[in-house]
Amino acid sequence: MTAETSDQPVWTRKHLLNLAELSREEIVHVLDTAESFKEVSTRSVKKVPALRGRVVVNMFFEESTRTRMSFELAAQRLSADVIDFSVRMSSTKKGETLLDTARNIEAMGVDIMILRHGAAGAAYHLSRAVNCCVINAGDGQHAHPTQALLDLFTIRERKGRVDGLNVAIVGDIAHSRVARSDMRGLQTLGANVTFVGPPTLVPRAFESLGARVVHDFDSILPEMDVINMLRIQKERISSSVFPSLREYVRLFGMNSERLRRCKPDVLVMHPGPVNRGIELAADVADGPHSSILRQVTNGLAIRMAVLFLCQQATDAA
Ligand code: CP
Repeated sequence: MTAETSDQPVWTRKHLLNLAELSREEIVHVLDTAESFKEVSTRSVKKVPALRGRVVVNMFFEESTRTRMSFELAAQRLSADVIDFSVRMSSTKKGETLLDTARNIEAMGVDIMILRHGAAGAAYHLSRAVNCCVINAGDGQHAHPTQALLDLFTIRERKGRVDGLNVAIVGDIAHSRVARSDMRGLQTLGANVTFVGPPTLVPRAFESLGARVVHDFDSILPEMDVINMLRIQKERISSSVFPSLREYVRLFGMNSERLRRCKPDVLVMHPGPVNRGIELAADVADGPHSSILRQVTNGLAIRMAVLFLCQQATDAA
């Protein structure tokens, strides 16, 4: 039975923890829902009452600009009340555990918790300890599901499809939660994923995940429809995994010369924050092939969709 003929809702999840758990149908449903929410941001009054009376708390234990602010704005656009939990000013500084902190916040009547944490699995841990919805906003090197959803949305919007596209993910794959989540989502929607980078950051073992592994960036440029450049952690590059930052930029940086060898309609992506002049030359980051700011705009619509769907599924359960 297909989604069109079934009475069952496509989305029944209370939590969004990892993109690897989602079916093709569920991912497409989030993207379609986000498409309708994107229109809200073009109105003069940018609000809908979908989460009126609900309380959303942003719990960020790691730095963030894009994810934190777009979840906050997404909740506001859905008319929810939003609390921004400040780690620095909280009692976690006095030794309170994550779960005790979360249970105390939930006791104030919170409906949705959004968690970014440095430990892989933190959002799973939290989802088993509280009754409200939990959204993973990035956990260690494990997963960043809303980043992957907004990347898929942007690719579908710019290319008209995801199925059959050749997508390169370039850089520090080994330590990247974005790479893991993007790969899962892209594969679920039928794209061909190539990981690109030095062997120290892109081990051959990653082929077991179903992605191609390539260490020569120049060799794959002409065949790619999408090139997603990941942030390089300069301190790691300059120490043990690569001889020098200059060497890394020479072999794996995207610049206008490399862009000329790509397909004329290649899409250049970056999740942010960008190290200008390292993974991306400034003229490429700001040029017509770049989708960096469009990704951020689309992130708002995706996060509105995720908040709405998880709360709707919880209410229906
Ligand atoms: N892409 C991303 O997660 O950016 P932030 O760390 O600024 O949220």
